[in-house]
Amino acid sequence: MVEREFSEGIKTIGVITSGGDAPGMNAAIRAVVRKAIGNGVRVKGIKKGFQGLLSEEIADMEKKDVADIIQRGGTVLGTARCPEFRELEGQQRAAEICRKHKIDGVVVIGGDGTYRGAMDLTKQGINAIGIPGTIDLDIACTEYTIGFDTAVNTAMEAIDKIRDTSSSHERCSIIEVMGRNAGYIALWCGVANGAENILIPEYYDYNEQTIINSIIANRKKGKTHHLIINAEGIGHSTSMARRIEAATGMETRATILGYMQRGGSPSCKDRYYASIMGAYAADILCQGASNRVISYRHGEFVDLDMTEALAMQKKINDYQFEVSKVLT
Ligand code: F6P
Repeated sequence: MVEREFSEGIKTIGVITSGGDAPGMNAAIRAVVRKAIGNGVRVKGIKKGFQGLLSEEIADMEKKDVADIIQRGGTVLGTARCPEFRELEGQQRAAEICRKHKIDGVVVIGGDGTYRGAMDLTKQGINAIGIPGTIDLDIACTEYTIGFDTAVNTAMEAIDKIRDTSSSHERCSIIEVMGRNAGYIALWCGVANGAENILIPEYYDYNEQTIINSIIANRKKGKTHHLIINAEGIGHSTSMARRIEAATGMETRATILGYMQRGGSPSCKDRYYASIMGAYAADILCQGASNRVISYRHGEFVDLDMTEALAMQKKINDYQFEVSKVLT
């Protein structure tokens, strides 16, 4: 982090969680509150994302208000997706409300939709710093997002259990994991759970026959069960299961893991990284920075220009995907 002086102009900051919740968000909130107060700056918690800002659900936060939350899943501030905030009028009103509550800047924790909201606020004169919070790992400027580690561990444990019963019954199991349009959760679980097929939107060619052929070939080799990890971005697991069963003769079941992946107590990594990112965001906001995002890149926590960060592209690593295919 670049050394900067704390700004005389920053007396009160706000903290918001927005978009889908993710385990570790509470650790980030706790760090923002405690670090800012340590810097001599007051903190206000804004409830239910940008929606709560527009409805002025704003409360002072003291150090004690964030006690006993680091181990809890979800977000104590609540979160929401807010269509009204996409309109200029909503953004102007949100900035007015910040001024009314004497909020000089905000830390926003969420995915890239949240960053867009934060950037819109900066255009209305409110300082904003983003922290990556999403289980999907789909924010281009960072190699780490809060919640991914917990989510893949939760999914991996669930998949192990499904694998047990799939093996007993000599079935094929299709397990659909979250990730919106990104295949990171599917790829990581696919490798970690030893899946026979990993279907991710970044590489999927919709050729189901390849999967059917691999099931038939595996059965000939004596494999008694078959595990397919399917990313949400491909979806249609239930109809896929019906088609695969009809084509292979192997009993096939689909399980959609769903929201369990977003909940639960955060892993040590999510608590630790979220704490560092929260503290970092509070520090640079107290120093007067704005339109920055906290990222983890090449083993270090850094802050980047939000506009540049949002323009970045991210891609699943080709080599890692190739490896995932040969380990089955
Ligand atoms: O971004 C996190 C995520 O859980 C995605 O994996 C999923 O596509 C989406 O949120 C679901 O959103 P909602 O909570 O609005 O149903």
